[in-house]
Amino acid sequence: MSEMTPEIYQPSPAVTANAIVKDYEEMSRFAGENLEQFWASQAEKFFWFSKWQKVLDNANQPFFKWFVGGQTNIVANCLDRHLATWRRNKLALIWEGENGDLRTFSYHALNREVCKFASVLRSMGVKKGDRVTIYMGRVPELPIAMLACAKIGAVHSVVYGGFSIEALQGRIEDSQSNVLITCDGSFMNGKVVELKKIVDEALRRAPTIEHVIVYKRTGQNVAMEAGRDYWYHDLVALPLARSLSNSGCETEIMDAEDPLFMLYTSGTTGKPKAILHTHGGYMVGIGTTLQTVFDIKEEDRWWCAADPGWITGHSYIVYGPLLLGATSFIYEGAPTYPYPNRWWSMVEKYGINILYTAPTAIRGLMRFGEAWPNRHDLSSLRLLGSVGEPINPEAWRWYYRVIGKERCPIMDTWWQTETGMFMITPMPVVDLKPGSATRPFPGVEADVYSEEGKPVAVGEEGYLVLKRPWPAMLRTIYKDPERYVKQYWSKFPGVYFTGDSARKDKDGYFWIIGRVDDVLKVSGYRLGTAEIESAFVSHPDVAEAAAIGLPHEIKGNAIHAYVILKAGATPSEALAEELKAHVANNLGPIAKPEKVTFLTQLPKTRSGKIMRRVLKARAQGIAEGDLSTLEE
Ligand code: WTA
Repeated sequence: MSEMTPEIYQPSPAVTANAIVKDYEEMSRFAGENLEQFWASQAEKFFWFSKWQKVLDNANQPFFKWFVGGQTNIVANCLDRHLATWRRNKLALIWEGENGDLRTFSYHALNREVCKFASVLRSMGVKKGDRVTIYMGRVPELPIAMLACAKIGAVHSVVYGGFSIEALQGRIEDSQSNVLITCDGSFMNGKVVELKKIVDEALRRAPTIEHVIVYKRTGQNVAMEAGRDYWYHDLVALPLARSLSNSGCETEIMDAEDPLFMLYTSGTTGKPKAILHTHGGYMVGIGTTLQTVFDIKEEDRWWCAADPGWITGHSYIVYGPLLLGATSFIYEGAPTYPYPNRWWSMVEKYGINILYTAPTAIRGLMRFGEAWPNRHDLSSLRLLGSVGEPINPEAWRWYYRVIGKERCPIMDTWWQTETGMFMITPMPVVDLKPGSATRPFPGVEADVYSEEGKPVAVGEEGYLVLKRPWPAMLRTIYKDPERYVKQYWSKFPGVYFTGDSARKDKDGYFWIIGRVDDVLKVSGYRLGTAEIESAFVSHPDVAEAAAIGLPHEIKGNAIHAYVILKAGATPSEALAEELKAHVANNLGPIAKPEKVTFLTQLPKTRSGKIMRRVLKARAQGIAEGDLSTLEE
């Protein structure tokens, strides 16, 4: 491992000289000793309709509250307050479609579009607290829809556009949304993803939805159900919906603790859970971390290449950059379409200064060789970022040398849907070790615990925990506070359990190893084994299934499944292919298994739980560990 022979990269003087945070140590010391004062001083940089009375309320742990009594709306900070300044004319969004379409929005224009759509939603009867499901491709109307919901106090639930019928249906049902916003289709890798068709199928099974709003992106033929489905462009053109500014469509005043959005994420059971985030604390957490970690300056062009449908997109494509009044670039399609230089050509074309992506994307582009990036002028880049899984040192060095030309420090940010914001991360003034997310953000206290809940020795592996609350933390699981307590605060009472394993080195640097629960990271996407298994079992030939992740060169992990067939069904190569397609069809292409193996028995505990670690050990030909609880 590289931590044994630490390879240290110092940020270049060109970067540190102008960095917003000059002294990480001092900032950390101050925040550690004055947690509430530290976050209050960050919160003061934002607009509040009325100021909070209490920074942190920990009376009813683990149901922490932040900025109690304060009133704001994240949209008042993302849009409204910029309109009174010169930023009204600054670009908020630059968007490029996979087919080369280009659209740009100044802060003024973005606000106008958000106001129009917010008034559409209001006129449909959507009110504060209502849930709205958003299932779209990567088009500007996706952030516009999110902002429109937030503006009127509705709680958005974005379902990633790469998910399919079953995943969408389950998420609609759980959230009990009445309104769904979608597209006719989306462009990805030169093909059309038929979003509306998937919606129609999901709605046959999830009837709570009363209105479907369809944004026309591809123009392909779709079925529109009269009385239920409306075209986006028709609605925003209606006279009753044509509020072009805040004077016709006011931003709802929200309590700091009012919910902003819910985002489903895979956990250890088949039922995905909706993580709930708020207007106040979330805003302060993501605005502060984005500014200090990625050193965003007024003149920068920021590109977070994630999808707005995941937490990375919520925090650092949509809300974070707008909070800072920054210019954010969004690209619709696949990194290699039509050629593997697509990303690099856009870095050059738009003069991107900061690029934030995932290790799987870097590995995917790496295999096409250096000639592709080398054809482009990448000298606008100043900082790079990584998120989603541990970055292997080889990919780190390639990213650093070939893309950053050894000038751009890499911010390897560790965080989760649940944390809302970066938790373990460097800043541009911190020494870097490839493969380590370095140290906690100021005010964050992380540690590595043994099974007994004691800090482990330096260099030893254990459970990664967080010991103090932070403002962007999840507040609960929607409709399931018990699961919130059980999942995150019960393994070690009083500390937050991340579900990750890690090591800490002698310099206090954290090395994330991976998940310790039944969550898989496939191409940086988070999937639950239980959700994959239930997609298998929905096939008529399948009696039982177990899914595990095995190392994969590009994806990080790939899904391998073990299947027991029902009596009468016969194992065959064709059936294995059919099952792979079935899972991809139901959950989404990201969940397509790499390999399906037929078995007649699965290793189980006496209480009937599948022992996935045994399957994993067998597949990798390594020791199976303690088998005392194995049934057969
Ligand atoms: C993993 C993504 C190593 C980790 C923002 C975590 C990482 C899970 C890193 C959360 C990183 C995220 N280094 N591992 N820099 N960032 N992870 O909820 O296992 O999709 O628990 O949020 O991704 O995934 P999620």
